[in-house]
Amino acid sequence: MEKTDVSIFVSSLKKSYKDKEILKDVTFSVPTGTIYALLGSNGAGKTTTIRILTTQIRPDGGTAHIQGFDVAKEPEKVHRVISLTGQFSALDESLTGMENLLIMGRLHHLSAPEKSAVRLLEYFDLSASSSRRVSSWSGGMKRKLDIAMSLVGSPSVLFLDEPTTGLDPQSRLAMWQIVRRLRDGGMTVLLTTQYLEEAEQLADQIGILHRGRILAQGTPSQLKSLLPQGAVRFTFRDQEDLRCAAFLLGKWQTSSHPAECALTVFTDGRADTLRELFRHLREGHISVRKFSELSPSLEDVFLTMIKEEKSYGKNKAKL
Ligand SMILES: Nc1ncnc2c1ncn2[C@@H]1O[C@H](COP(=O)(O)OP(=O)(O)OP(=O)(O)O)[C@@H](O)[C@H]1O
Ligand SMILES: [Mg+2]
Repeated sequence: MEKTDVSIFVSSLKKSYKDKEILKDVTFSVPTGTIYALLGSNGAGKTTTIRILTTQIRPDGGTAHIQGFDVAKEPEKVHRVISLTGQFSALDESLTGMENLLIMGRLHHLSAPEKSAVRLLEYFDLSASSSRRVSSWSGGMKRKLDIAMSLVGSPSVLFLDEPTTGLDPQSRLAMWQIVRRLRDGGMTVLLTTQYLEEAEQLADQIGILHRGRILAQGTPSQLKSLLPQGAVRFTFRDQEDLRCAAFLLGKWQTSSHPAECALTVFTDGRADTLRELFRHLREGHISVRKFSELSPSLEDVFLTMIKEEKSYGKNKAKL
């Protein structure tokens, strides 16, 4: 891939706070015009990565380039091409939607801030509420306006830190549609999320960030193919049976789903192995309510990778 085809290039980023290493070795790149999801749990270092890439803080080591500009050495040039919608809203809630956008337009020295504001309000389907104070808007509307605000300067690279956290399912779907539309218009989007479903639905590429490293990255289907083939799922009567089954089948890689009383077991897909699984359960007097063969979900990948961090960390999955 040509260097110019890559909008975000991150190599061996490191960041510590006091003696706590937050980012140990973060490396990834995002092709122009695609969506990359940085997927990780609370405290994984997602916001820290975004803050480095948007020049708010400096890394202790490693390099990062946005559209070819070094974030540490050329922050002004980086500012010209990026925009950020942070994890927490930056709106002035005492103002109307229109007023918020106008202020942003003036900060960007636009020649026609009104025109830009009207266009963005239309694009985000917010025109009807544009003259109401933002304090009276719903969470989903505020989040849309947050993103609209970051589009005022027509950035080519957009950073979205947890764009849908706290939104209801309908607003989340609307947000996904907006992000896809921006990508389809040629924008490069780096978003962070704790939701596996969101990463799977939205991202062209996903990086799983855990304990300061990208454990694996690739398209959703590439990530799924990292897991052994032949995953099967058992559903049990109750939690007690689920716990016993997880113990009895401990020699295989498993992932528990307590809410559904189910256990996913990753096997080599051979009939002998299946027979052995059932034999273990029978000998443990555990009755199986439902059995199915499945292709692994992204959740399985995530949970397995985090569990198997050591081995995956060593031979970091290359896709
Ligand atoms: N300024 C700071 N000083 C000290 N520790 C910090 C600072 N900023 C972040 N941290 C710590 O770094 C770790 C990673 O934080 P970060 O905000 O990057 O995580 P995150 O992946 O965005 O989590 P969340 O999903 O909760 O937003 C956390 O343990 C956090 O407490
Ligand atoms: Mg965060």
